[in-house]
Amino acid sequence: MPKQLDLNSLSASELIALVKEVGGQRPFERKYGIPRTTLQARLKKARDEQWNHRPVLKPIEERVDQGVRRFILTSAQDRTVVHEGFLAQLEAYCAWLNEDAPCDIMIAGFTYNKSLFEDHAKRSGLFHHSLTKYLVFDHININGVVDFCAELNTRPTASNPLNGCENFTEDRWGIFPHAKLQIKSVPTHKQKQPKILLSTGCVTRTNYVPLRAGIKAELEHSLSAVLVETDHIGKFFCRHLIAEEDGSFYDLDRRISNGVVTTGHNLKSITWGDLHVKQIDPEVCAASFGIMPTNRRANGHRVWVENIPGSVIDTMRPEYQQFEDVSDFYARNHHNIKNALAPDQSHTIDDIENGMHGHEGVNGSRGSIAGYRRTGIKATFGHAHSCAVLGDVWQSGTKSKLDLGYNGGMSSWSHSDVWQYQNGHRVMITFHGNAWNIPVEKAGLQKSSSDIK
Ligand SMILES: [Fe+2]
Repeated sequence: MPKQLDLNSLSASELIALVKEVGGQRPFERKYGIPRTTLQARLKKARDEQWNHRPVLKPIEERVDQGVRRFILTSAQDRTVVHEGFLAQLEAYCAWLNEDAPCDIMIAGFTYNKSLFEDHAKRSGLFHHSLTKYLVFDHININGVVDFCAELNTRPTASNPLNGCENFTEDRWGIFPHAKLQIKSVPTHKQKQPKILLSTGCVTRTNYVPLRAGIKAELEHSLSAVLVETDHIGKFFCRHLIAEEDGSFYDLDRRISNGVVTTGHNLKSITWGDLHVKQIDPEVCAASFGIMPTNRRANGHRVWVENIPGSVIDTMRPEYQQFEDVSDFYARNHHNIKNALAPDQSHTIDDIENGMHGHEGVNGSRGSIAGYRRTGIKATFGHAHSCAVLGDVWQSGTKSKLDLGYNGGMSSWSHSDVWQYQNGHRVMITFHGNAWNIPVEKAGLQKSSSDIK
């Protein structure tokens, strides 16, 4: 004799769970003697009546109460092969950094609609076992200054993964898991530091549906991660680690290859933020070039302080430098500006066009990074004063003060340079005051900010 069951006494979710528990509708019919059609009608009614609520997830807080902490953040596609070489180099670099200060790898998973019937919940996604210990699924607030939006699940085919995310992290910088590499500066009050969003790139290999959207996405698939370093006073830096074919990469003057970190590597090239020397920010100037204007004047010129140690130029020794919007930088740079180019003269370094300022676009139109991206060119330039990366086009920021009076309202200007490593990969370096990294004590690099005053 089947058990008596009052269908109406069960809530929708209880009824669904019960049907699942007994193994389906037919076993349910046999067990409880309730005709399947009655059950189906009740299930339909229950589903129609179902009211849902998904509570807002609370962010996880990662604080730095003393000293320094670092985070290596990237993403991974479900059911996809990991680039083991890159993961191994990230692990080697993490271990090396850990000798200086705590460093953690965090990987956000994303799913991709390769089958219409897949479950797209990230937590139930299947990720390579080598990633399991690094996987995170929550919104992570790092030291109150940078958010890792690991809860987001954005299709890898999205052409501008950061679009629509501008307000997602309130006034903090945002790191977004995505297979493409993009950087976007979001306007803030011009007397405050800009807010910059970066997407991570990923540690998994290409795995796209061979249709137009997938094939297009493949072109911009980026094997990369973002390193975040921050300290107890809230200073922070975020920059990309971009893998070569075997997974090796550079970070500042460091090269991570075959599981070993070596230091002292110089840069191929720097595209400085627009100089605007008359309006240059003294602290950023000092940290960039080792020289700094003062308010004193002698013989009709500003008096400059020279030989300030720990500057980018002395530390990174670039083979090439691109100076944008220079005005009167003539005699003050202690490094000669060699081989100055005429405007519009092509100048490629490796395969990247460095000869444009960025103010002119296509067929006489105004320059825009989106317009350049559509041409398929690989290029680095300045002009807009706001750092950005879109496709293979990188745009530096400015060295001018961020508030020049004439730039009214909110502003996305940033003190950012585009550096090009010896392997042809680039990195966006954004200054905070007179600092551009948190030094690793054993490796040197920029001294603490108080040393370069
Ligand atoms: Fe400019």
